[in-house]
Amino acid sequence: MDRSTMVLRPTARIVDGVAVSDGAGVRLNRLIGTPQLDQVDPFLMLDEFRSDDAADYIAGFPEHPHRGFETVTYMLAGRMRHADNKGHEGRLDAGSVQWMTAGRGIVHSEMPEQENGLMWGFQLWVNLPAKDKMTAPRYQEIPASEIPTTPLAGGVSVKVIAGEIAGVRGPINGIATAPAMFDVTLPAQGEAVLPVPATHAAFLYPFSGAITIAGSGERVLHRELAVLGAGDAVRVAAVGGQARVLLVAGKPLGEPVARYGPFVMNTAQEIRQAAMDYQAGRF
Ligand code: FE2
Repeated sequence: MDRSTMVLRPTARIVDGVAVSDGAGVRLNRLIGTPQLDQVDPFLMLDEFRSDDAADYIAGFPEHPHRGFETVTYMLAGRMRHADNKGHEGRLDAGSVQWMTAGRGIVHSEMPEQENGLMWGFQLWVNLPAKDKMTAPRYQEIPASEIPTTPLAGGVSVKVIAGEIAGVRGPINGIATAPAMFDVTLPAQGEAVLPVPATHAAFLYPFSGAITIAGSGERVLHRELAVLGAGDAVRVAAVGGQARVLLVAGKPLGEPVARYGPFVMNTAQEIRQAAMDYQAGRF
């Protein structure tokens, strides 16, 4: 990128997470998909689960359906077992990513495969365009060892899950909203300029430490989420000690959203159809 013509994105909004309980009683910090931040089109939901108290996660997410969008699970610590009604099964280990395109429908469960210790990670919901909502389900399961890490100047390092930075491409491919997803580690006082396609909506979440964002100069505290304004890059700096930040960007769909629990379609009629199909065992 030519830095002389780069437009740095300011902060558009900063929001706090909301404590919620989901699945069979898993405690979560919900950052997107709340009354104050309904969505960041195309992102419908972002949950962080983080606890070393098994009572907060042990009940897991027993069998439940999805239709019309994608769920992305990024594990930082701990282990989950995933299984669905098509016979697909796998383990999500620390550092791994599962990008599941639910499409026309799957019924699956996500259960912890540990009885104690830290469980920490994210689930992100990514919308599908109307033309792809009834596509065949697809999984991309990427172990930690296949997620490239690239160093940037000043001791910064970036795990590239999706999208491209400094000539390094993440392993996730073929997603309609052309997402970028970076896990960025900034050393104490460190800073980085991260490319974000101008066509994309984007947000930053410092899940460890705190940051400032150039342009607005606004400070984003630990576990606050910053929705970014327009531009083609963002400059972030660690405040105080080391910081670790999730940067996520994707092309907005600009389509109507009808959502009901685990179904996300374009119209209320399609939601009713999804419920009927699920009840009739057609997933
Ligand atoms: Fe799920």
